[in-house]
Amino acid sequence: MDPNRTMKPAFGNGDGAAHLLHVAVIPDGNGRWAAARGLPRTAGHQAGVESVRRLVEAAPSLGIGIVSLYVFSADNWERPQVEVVGLLGLLERFFIEEGQKFRETGVRVRAIGRRDRLPQGLRSSIGAIEKLTTAGRRLQLRLAIDYSAQDAILRAACRMISSLEISRREFARVLGLANYNDGPAPDVDLVIRTGGEQRLSDFLLWESAYAELVFSQRLWPDFQASDLEAAVEEFHRRDRRFGRIPQAVAG
Ligand code: IPE
Ligand code: IPE
Ligand code: MG
Repeated sequence: MDPNRTMKPAFGNGDGAAHLLHVAVIPDGNGRWAAARGLPRTAGHQAGVESVRRLVEAAPSLGIGIVSLYVFSADNWERPQVEVVGLLGLLERFFIEEGQKFRETGVRVRAIGRRDRLPQGLRSSIGAIEKLTTAGRRLQLRLAIDYSAQDAILRAACRMISSLEISRREFARVLGLANYNDGPAPDVDLVIRTGGEQRLSDFLLWESAYAELVFSQRLWPDFQASDLEAAVEEFHRRDRRFGRIPQAVAG
């Protein structure tokens, strides 16, 4: 067995321990949802916020301990300014409105990604909700804002430049510190992308090395708790092998 492995198999290793899932969500399709209704793209993002609320509510009862949600990619700065401003404004409002409820329901919010390019108001609202919800233990909600997996990997590599040899585990730790303000999270078990596209768009590339991928045709604003449940059920039907052979074959 490779001592450099960064992850443990979630299932099938015979220890019977309950494993809370780390699910990464790429909530795509807001713009198309709005266009189909003759609405501005920002209306799609607004509707998308409701889907986020549903996701957060449904996740803990489905055995999910961590949700990493791709909210704004480093490449999304290339969108028209009116959309960027609208989207970041919605985010700020979301943090201000949801803080108390998240605190009461045990949701711990953490932002990953760069902060230095965000508007001051949004930055403060992130700091405030992180502080307010720090004791939350039911669900960890990691919001990726101005996030690029390639940038994160590159930053971590630069930090490691003087180390001649490094294990995957150690690199994962440095990657976590390079990008997440409170250390690394376990590797992703399941990636769900809505909107029909089948790509990762620079989200959690390292952490998703052995993640199961579920692509949904649903546009994000139409994504329901039942869709999340179906994706988790699909995950449980998959046979995760981590480069080994199935246990039944191994005997
Ligand atoms: C995803 O929806 C949300 C963000 C990128 C913030 P899009 O805005 O990408 O929606 P489509 O893909 O254009 O429909
Ligand atoms: C990925 O969606 C980013 C987020 C959901 C935040 P995009 O819509 O930006 O990705 P591409 O451009 O289709 O790859
Ligand atoms: Mg898109």
